Amino acid sequence: MRKTPANGQREMPANATGSRDVRCSMFDVSPSFFCLRSSRLCGLIQCRSIGAIIFLLFSSACLLVGCSKKEESGASQLKGKQKVLVMIPKGVHPYYEPCYEGFKDAGAKYGVKTEYRAAKAFEVPQEVEVIENTIARHVDGIAISALDDQGLVPAIDEATKAGIKVITFDAPAPSSKALTYIGTMNEAAGYAGAEALIKVINSEGEVAVLQGGLGAPNLNDRFKGFERCLKEKAPNVKIVAREDEQGKIDLTVNKTEALLQAHPNLKAIFGVSAEVCPGAAAALKQQGKAGKVILAGFDDLPDTLAGIRNDVVNFCIAQRTYKMGWLSVEKLLEAIDGKPLPKEIDTGVLIITKANVDSYMQEMKKEFAK
Ligand code: BGC
Repeated sequence: MRKTPANGQREMPANATGSRDVRCSMFDVSPSFFCLRSSRLCGLIQCRSIGAIIFLLFSSACLLVGCSKKEESGASQLKGKQKVLVMIPKGVHPYYEPCYEGFKDAGAKYGVKTEYRAAKAFEVPQEVEVIENTIARHVDGIAISALDDQGLVPAIDEATKAGIKVITFDAPAPSSKALTYIGTMNEAAGYAGAEALIKVINSEGEVAVLQGGLGAPNLNDRFKGFERCLKEKAPNVKIVAREDEQGKIDLTVNKTEALLQAHPNLKAIFGVSAEVCPGAAAALKQQGKAGKVILAGFDDLPDTLAGIRNDVVNFCIAQRTYKMGWLSVEKLLEAIDGKPLPKEIDTGVLIITKANVDSYMQEMKKEFAK
């Protein structure tokens, strides 16, 4: 849906794309118009009937009105250009569904068009390609969940030079020109995760960490906070492995099986990204180790919540994904209006256990209920 021009006037297209649009709408009408006109003229010559003249005038008028309407809608689309904001996640992953829901809902509220463009896999060149294709479409703003910091710098630079407002959500790219970061304060959240885990495992034992990609600053910050907390508060807890599962659930299952074999005394598995709990839960169940090896980690994917209800997952750290998407639209619009943005915006996290697994969502949604 495009806005009509504020003054209600038709405007001649100013650029090549514009003139092509109008030519198209003219072409749609013109051939049939001329065809009709010539056939009616023949009829006129043959019959010289007044009825035919009236019919000719009437049909020509209708066609002209139709034509001008088509022209008008084409031209007004060009003039009253609706803003287009695009969300680019690290790649296809169910974690981003509520992020886009928030983005889309805010877009509907503010009358902007929202789009979602995701690479197939969590791979930096793929994310860069998605960003570049989006720049080429001259959109107004982009919200990126960064798979990498340095790797995205040139693409974000290019977008900025093209006059497109860029922010990051969920995962920052601190070295880039992104105007703000909206999401979890990751080091603190990793620290909080370790604090919660220490309590469950009585401050001792072997822990393995699974992570979806080793390049993303958000996940590395979580690991940093997690590790620091153990050093400070539970020196008898040892991190015996840290594995990359590339954001893939099947790889998480395989890596978990390998961990269980390599570390028979493993006390807990901690996931710093969303696919870990669902993947590791499946592997623990298969091996009859559900509830025996403690499992906890980030995010509230449906299988993680099911795992909490069934005592396979001990707790999860829910990020405010809907809020990240919603605020991304608001902040992009502010940036488009020339307003300065803060360096980062903390959306906060919530620890979910069996006690609040069925009620936390209502709490999270409260601030958006209008
Ligand atoms: C992270 C995202 C990541 C997702 C899936 C979440 O915990 O915040 O950056 O894409 O997990 O791996």
